[in-house]
Amino acid sequence: NVERTFSIIKPDAVKRDLIGEILKRLESNGLSVVASKMLRLTREQAEGFYAEHKGRDFYEPLVEYMISAPIVVQVLEGENAIAKNREVMGVTDPAKAAPGTIRADFALSVRENSAHGSDSPESAAREIAYFFTENEICGRH
Ligand code: CMP
Repeated sequence: NVERTFSIIKPDAVKRDLIGEILKRLESNGLSVVASKMLRLTREQAEGFYAEHKGRDFYEPLVEYMISAPIVVQVLEGENAIAKNREVMGVTDPAKAAPGTIRADFALSVRENSAHGSDSPESAAREIAYFFTENEICGRH
């Protein structure tokens, strides 16, 4: 079951020059980068991307954090890519993430948690389309 998922290397990780470390973990776990770009989100882009969280107590600080430095947005492709990416990242809160996961090893807090990964096929499709057109995706399969 080859799938695509959407991934972000978040501001805290970009600021600490962890792009390579994070990509290495994704790639060595069977996740191929099929689209990638670095950008700085506008406030409007960040608010739209996280619209489902609007009204939550963490929403405003999350938006501020996501526009605080550049990010890397990417499409990953591989066998069960959605679940695999989440497994390699670890759970949202780094204090609860399994040892050896990206968030356990690099995240600073539940907000500054170094990486994002889509949680379902529906969010993967929405999130990929938010940043990429189909002809920017260089599929391997
Ligand atoms: P992610 O799950 O990728 O997308 C939603 C983001 O909101 C999450 O990563 C964290 O960066 C942030 N987040 C989620 N829950 C909390 C929380 N309880 N406190 C602070 N930030 C949170």
